[in-house]
Amino acid sequence: MRQMMVAGNWKMHGSVAFTSDMVTTLASKVVIKENVTLLVCPPAVYLAQAAAAAAHSGVHVGAQNLASVASPGAYTGEVAGFMLADIGCQYVIVGHSERRALYAEDNEIVAHKAKVALDAGLVPLVCVGETLEQREAGKAQEVITAQLDAVSAVIGVDGWSQAIVAYEPVWAIGTGRTASPEQAQEIHAVIRARLAELDAGMATAMRILYGGSVKPDNAESIFSQLDVDGGLIGGASLNADDFARIYACAQTK
Ligand code: 13P
Repeated sequence: MRQMMVAGNWKMHGSVAFTSDMVTTLASKVVIKENVTLLVCPPAVYLAQAAAAAAHSGVHVGAQNLASVASPGAYTGEVAGFMLADIGCQYVIVGHSERRALYAEDNEIVAHKAKVALDAGLVPLVCVGETLEQREAGKAQEVITAQLDAVSAVIGVDGWSQAIVAYEPVWAIGTGRTASPEQAQEIHAVIRARLAELDAGMATAMRILYGGSVKPDNAESIFSQLDVDGGLIGGASLNADDFARIYACAQTK
């Protein structure tokens, strides 16, 4: 049985008080199970605080982005992977559709960032997903396969063995319109099959999370799908009760 993960992507939400409340509430409220990783991804400025509050609690901390450059230097405003590792981050999201759409991160940049993350000792959560237009044109699988292949070309089987994939259909993010469990399963199976062309063992072990309007009332049906190994949660991760309930849904699998 694969390890499950429930990850919260706070996006650009939070404050010092929120971070403290959320991490201490999750650490005290949630019974953390060894087979379900609980991850929170606050904005960069709150990561060190979150990591300190989460220490020894079983709550893991990840970043939402990292610089594409690995070494220190004149890169105003950037945060390097080694800095994230230094303050206690273990994971980093790369290729989120908001970064692809709003910050022009293409498949090559995403692949490069995944490599930089791995080299810094971080686990990249590599996000893939199609837009509504692409889905309606029958191109979802083609788009996702291209997104995966770009990463495969740079990190290879060894890199993928240290990574996680998140399938986030763009049309389901923040819209309240979640993929049906069957739609999620269909694409998750495509992702696993594509990775299996590289290496069957790596693909079998790969954690593939679903993201896009996951809520306490739909999490269980999505997580119960064969190739769904947890979720990457946006809006509902900002409410400790909702997030704890979603986490509990992953434990029932
Ligand atoms: P929502 O759960 O708010 O739809 O966001 C999903 C997401 O983008 C997580 O990375």
